[in-house]
Amino acid sequence: MKLLLIGFGVVGQGLAEILQSKAAQLKQAQGLSATIVGVITGSKGSLFHADGLDIAELLAAAEIGSLDAYPERTGLRRGLSASEMIAAGDSDALVEMSPTNLQTAQPALAICHQALDAGLHLVLANKGPVALDYANLRAKALSKGLQLRYEATVMAGTPTMQLAEEALAGCEIRSARGILNGTTNYMLTRMEAGLTYAEALAQAQALGYAETDPSGDVEGWDAAGKVLILANALFGSSLTMADLDVSGITQISAADMAAAKSAGQRYKLIAGASPSGGSVKALRLPLSDPLANVAGAANAITLETDLLGAVTLIGAGAGQLETGSAILSDLLAIQRGAGRI
Ligand code: HSE
Repeated sequence: MKLLLIGFGVVGQGLAEILQSKAAQLKQAQGLSATIVGVITGSKGSLFHADGLDIAELLAAAEIGSLDAYPERTGLRRGLSASEMIAAGDSDALVEMSPTNLQTAQPALAICHQALDAGLHLVLANKGPVALDYANLRAKALSKGLQLRYEATVMAGTPTMQLAEEALAGCEIRSARGILNGTTNYMLTRMEAGLTYAEALAQAQALGYAETDPSGDVEGWDAAGKVLILANALFGSSLTMADLDVSGITQISAADMAAAKSAGQRYKLIAGASPSGGSVKALRLPLSDPLANVAGAANAITLETDLLGAVTLIGAGAGQLETGSAILSDLLAIQRGAGRI
């Protein structure tokens, strides 16, 4: 399977590392032979080779800070745009991992449509296009017999979308509620242990949990984007950000946290989605609430279903390999659905 990668930051490099370290196992056990033919970054340049790029050299160039450091090869093309790479016609799937824009979803959204128009399967870690234009992307993918997959957009590699859409396909899901942002959950956990807000945020950034612009995490917008994705995918809603009640953790002081602690409670940023709406809000939960004990960058979600009652999933919500793992899972699903390509 030949891949075009849009974005080569924390997540893109995580995916590349996984594809490199698991190459033999993926080929032998799953029949997946994944080749990265193109990489586009916002600030480090772009590379394309129809026969595939060398992952170790790609990672080394990214480490140096510029894809210009990738060694010269016959057939290597530098500086191509996403449109040019798509038009080159040498790829099977486009993996969108550029920074999330929850206002317009651009420039990623236009690239996603171009990829589907050109017959490429689409895998997203970028939340913007799925949060803001899911219905159109899905309709286009369906009409062309292509897969649209976005496991990485909610709870990283913890299989939220596959659980909801595949394992629970026979159930009606009535609501979803949980902790959907790893950065703020990590920060709240560390602040409770005595770190300042700034120290906790700096650690979350260093660990690769935060968005490129972390205000989206701490003000609740990242979790709100995930609420829209869940609303779109689970309930077929057409909610927009303006329909959601959103706040974050910026207003929580050390004194608030101490007061919660002495009352046997803990602050958590709780996101909820139902067919009628959604919200993101910092709430004081009693320690007896299972969500109160989800610590660090972990996330959790409870799906209320008609046949099974509540189904709860807890696992990684952010991180380099954790998110790369979601993309791998989507690539394997494409492999299963489309045969060996
Ligand atoms: N910034 C996001 C988070 C990354 O902290 O949850 C995963 O979507």
